[in-house]
Amino acid sequence: MPFVPMKDLLDDAAARGYAVPGFCVWAAEVMAAVLRVAQDLRAPVILMNGPAEFPLMGPTEMGAVAHGLVRLFDATAALHLDHGDSLEQVQACLRAGYTSVMLDYSTRPLEENVAALRQTVELAHPLGVTVEGELGVVGKVDTSVVEGGSAASLTDPDQAADFVARTGVDALAVAIGNAHGAYTRLPRLDFDRLARLRERVPVPLVLHGGSGTPEEDLRRAISLGIAKVNVATEVVAAMREGLAEEYAGNDKAWMPLALASGVKRVAAVVEKWINFTGAAG
Ligand code: 13P
Repeated sequence: MPFVPMKDLLDDAAARGYAVPGFCVWAAEVMAAVLRVAQDLRAPVILMNGPAEFPLMGPTEMGAVAHGLVRLFDATAALHLDHGDSLEQVQACLRAGYTSVMLDYSTRPLEENVAALRQTVELAHPLGVTVEGELGVVGKVDTSVVEGGSAASLTDPDQAADFVARTGVDALAVAIGNAHGAYTRLPRLDFDRLARLRERVPVPLVLHGGSGTPEEDLRRAISLGIAKVNVATEVVAAMREGLAEEYAGNDKAWMPLALASGVKRVAAVVEKWINFTGAAG
């Protein structure tokens, strides 16, 4: 099935009390693995990549590979630019057929964030493409993760309501104590803040930094309005572990077989998150 706008997926999730998992995908075999599991479990999924993956293949190639693959699967999926860092990059993704774009100006002054997201909405909405913004700053756990800022600040509910009204974004990534990367100590999510955000903000909320979040916390966050959960570090780790195992005893291991071993682990991570988020079925 062709990609659908991410908004369609998130609105259904928000209305029915589950979340759609967004998986970092950087190569054809990883995209295929996510789509295959989504098809098997009859779950909506979001394929996403961005500046941290584009050194490998830029938006045009990523888009071409993803569009070629998605038609082979009976799965409902969106293709999303994650943490876009410029309007030029947003435009490149729109040309490449992404059905959702995030421009992350959360570390910039508020008015700059508002103006850039307003412009993104003006570019994307006429094409039927969803827009995600971020307010407050989701930090990163350590320096080995490439996304997110080093300093975090939590999202203010009143400011978030104003931000959504002024920009017209379809989804909002919030900072409630979550962080990108492998948690070295368990996150302390600010559920009171999330409840206040839910009351004030009319669009679905997004939780970045899914990897390592305890299932109980995740379920509570979903019950309080989180409709999309981003997962990257666990996907990358699964592939890395598969490769490491294959190459451990044999430095001449055949790369496609080593990748296949990684893909098997990636599929297990995808299955786990589809079940965690309640997206199965
Ligand atoms: P993790 O790497 O912590 O799963 O975070 C992913 C993410 O939020 C990508 O935007």
